Amino acid sequence: MLSGKCILIGITGGIAAYKICELIRKFKKKGADVKVVCTPNALNFVTKLTLQNLSQNEVYVEEFDVKNWKPEHISLADEADIMIIAPATANTISKIARGIADNLLTSVACAFSKKMIIAPAMNCNMWKNQAVQENINILKARGIEILEPESGFLACGYLGKGRLCSIEKIYGAVDEALNYSQILKGKKVVVTAGGTVEDIDPVRYISNYSSGKMGFAISDAAYQMGAESVLITTKNFEAPYKIIKVKSAMDMQNALNEEFDQADYIIMAAAVADYRVKEYSKQKIKKTESDNLTLELVKNPDILRSLCEKKTHQTVVGFCAESENLLQNANEKIAKKGCDFLVANDISRSDIGFSSDDNEVTILDKSGRIKKLEKASKQVIARQILEYIHG
Ligand code: PMT
Repeated sequence: MLSGKCILIGITGGIAAYKICELIRKFKKKGADVKVVCTPNALNFVTKLTLQNLSQNEVYVEEFDVKNWKPEHISLADEADIMIIAPATANTISKIARGIADNLLTSVACAFSKKMIIAPAMNCNMWKNQAVQENINILKARGIEILEPESGFLACGYLGKGRLCSIEKIYGAVDEALNYSQILKGKKVVVTAGGTVEDIDPVRYISNYSSGKMGFAISDAAYQMGAESVLITTKNFEAPYKIIKVKSAMDMQNALNEEFDQADYIIMAAAVADYRVKEYSKQKIKKTESDNLTLELVKNPDILRSLCEKKTHQTVVGFCAESENLLQNANEKIAKKGCDFLVANDISRSDIGFSSDDNEVTILDKSGRIKKLEKASKQVIARQILEYIHG
């Protein structure tokens, strides 16, 4: 339920502006107070009257249309529990990233200090533009949630990534954000994400298909639940909390050892390579006349197990990626690793697990309890995992 929540929607000048009418209707149906602020260009795509009728509130456009002593951009920023900007054009995204406040919407954004979600929509080449991507990274690093555009036919006639994500996705992200409880305040949560990279020579390496998405969602969720999040990852990621970039399993182990003593929760969502080459070749390995090439591999340390062996107050959570006999393998793994919880992932399905936006997992604990989390976005699964392990 969104009853009692004030949702501020910022609409900018893009063709997808008309879709926001449906979003406003959905929020109103759930009892939210919806306020709408538009850039002047947004009104080329959707009328003020429509937005006013649907939101049952005045629609704000002009910065100096002063009605009370408090400037409008401050009142709107103060009243709202969350701000969504959808569709967000390249222009507005870039202004917000650089702190430019030259209309009512960008001024409100500049004065807004609570949760903000931005759903960009634009031509695919504009989305790929380096300036836009740099500005998106700036916003992510500040803790602003970006709901990336989807691929498909664009209004400009192109086929590519740039279409506003679905209204359901925006609705879900808002609902999710407003329902976060601060249960992890005062706790330190260390999360690993992504596949480790084990170099063979200057050209080749051993790795796996882990994108890091599951781990990112967990460290973001922990942060939103009030925790001090620390993310140890092999992938590039922007967030407003500490991120330690690593490459190999050995690097990951060193970083974890540094963070371990002060941590309350260690969540090992990374896919760590079990083996690395015995000897790294400083020079590129040359093709020979032989049809075979033998690489000798040696075992990487089992980081999860070593952490479980030395843990004192920490809750240690392992993940496992299985392509068959999910529960049987997970049961054996939790016993072998000695962790408090094990989150079992089925990687035989293409719609969940590696690289996908959704997941469906089963959480085992060391007393034999089992909890299945039904398929949902990795963000929702992340929150559910944290709530479950926190108890
Ligand atoms: O990153 P995504 O694309 O979003 O995909 C998410 C995921 C499927 C990768 C993730 O949810 C997942 O399942 N991660 C664990 C993958 C894995 O390495 O499973 P495993 O069964 O090989 O290892 C079990 C546990 O031991 C893991 O917590 C792993 O981090 C840890 N481990 C493994 C090997 C090793 N040498 N040291 C370890 O600590």
